[in-house]
Amino acid sequence: MNHNELTRKEFLKLSGAAVGGGLLAGMGLGNSANAQASELLHRTIHSTGEKIPAVGLGTALEFGDLSADFSKRKGAIEALFREGGTVIDTSPTYADAEKIVGRALDELGARDKCFLATKTSISGKQAGIDQNSQSFEDLRTNRFDLLQVHNLRDTEAHLETIYGLKEEGKVRYAGITHFRESQNDDAVKVIEAHKLDFMQCQYNLLDRSIEDRVLPAARERGVAVMINVPFARGRLFGPTAGKGLAIPDWAKDFGADSWGKFFLKFILGHPDVTVIIPGTINDYHVVDNIGALKGRLPTEAERKRMVSFIEEL
Ligand SMILES: NC(=O)c1ccc[n+]([C@@H]2O[C@H](COP(=O)([O-])OP(=O)(O)OC[C@H]3O[C@@H](n4cnc5c(N)ncnc54)[C@H](OP(=O)(O)O)[C@@H]3O)[C@@H](O)[C@H]2O)c1
Repeated sequence: MNHNELTRKEFLKLSGAAVGGGLLAGMGLGNSANAQASELLHRTIHSTGEKIPAVGLGTALEFGDLSADFSKRKGAIEALFREGGTVIDTSPTYADAEKIVGRALDELGARDKCFLATKTSISGKQAGIDQNSQSFEDLRTNRFDLLQVHNLRDTEAHLETIYGLKEEGKVRYAGITHFRESQNDDAVKVIEAHKLDFMQCQYNLLDRSIEDRVLPAARERGVAVMINVPFARGRLFGPTAGKGLAIPDWAKDFGADSWGKFFLKFILGHPDVTVIIPGTINDYHVVDNIGALKGRLPTEAERKRMVSFIEEL
């Protein structure tokens, strides 16, 4: 991402309270961290009533580079838990992201704190089963919280496997993912034909195509919605943070004091969204993103204003 909104220096200046919370927790005074987590917006997974923090961490793009700085990626995961987040989304196809997430969770002793989501991303039933086995090994776990069919590839075959793993207690929730507008209709068909716990799809201020049919179908069938690509792969920062554009004062009324929070609060303002998984390798962006869970959300009128504002740039 070329348009990092906060530099590390700015982040350290702004986040004294959060860093202080981490230090207190390290000194055995962890109640403040718990109190902090309980103040964050949580949303309910309809199929069980379980509540999860509504922003997590995505691991596509640069996250899976095993030759790059592991401690930086581990730092992003550590920041997620310190700030009160739990959800991590990964895939066997994100280069070595599963290996990196698995090692980080192991070293942090954080597997039990994590809501861990991964994918089946290959053609063929047996190939999917083999890929799942490798994912268990790479993620150093014997249980996925969520296993999703990636991009609707061989959906019927893999859902059968995922339901089987659910029965064995190796998977807690079953889901599908996609991110292209052209797959919205196919996603709706799968939502209507199967008993899914989750569906994952793209939603952001540049692509609101799921509003028409996908989100209503998910609501109707009680399927939780995980949002990918919330920043349009970082493109939303180009004409805003990248150009030094000031955040409008009216957005500060609902706590959007960074462009990251502006974009995430727009998404969270939709009542059918369960959780967003912004991708980053930077701890200070994780802090910024989890910060979107604090304070109020924009009203429908304010969300319309956000759309017009971005469309006019
Ligand atoms: N079909 C699917 O299943 C599918 C498809 C696409 C994505 N996904 C999932 O969704 C996740 C999110 O999508 P994505 O990673 O492709 O795109 P994204 O979240 O829209 O954008 C990621 C970019 O935003 C930057 N960023 C993150 N937080 C920021 C902040 N607070 N301020 C400024 N910049 C920030 C990151 O840069 P830095 O790294 O420099 O911070 C990165 O370049 C993926 O990681 C993956 O887990 C799933």
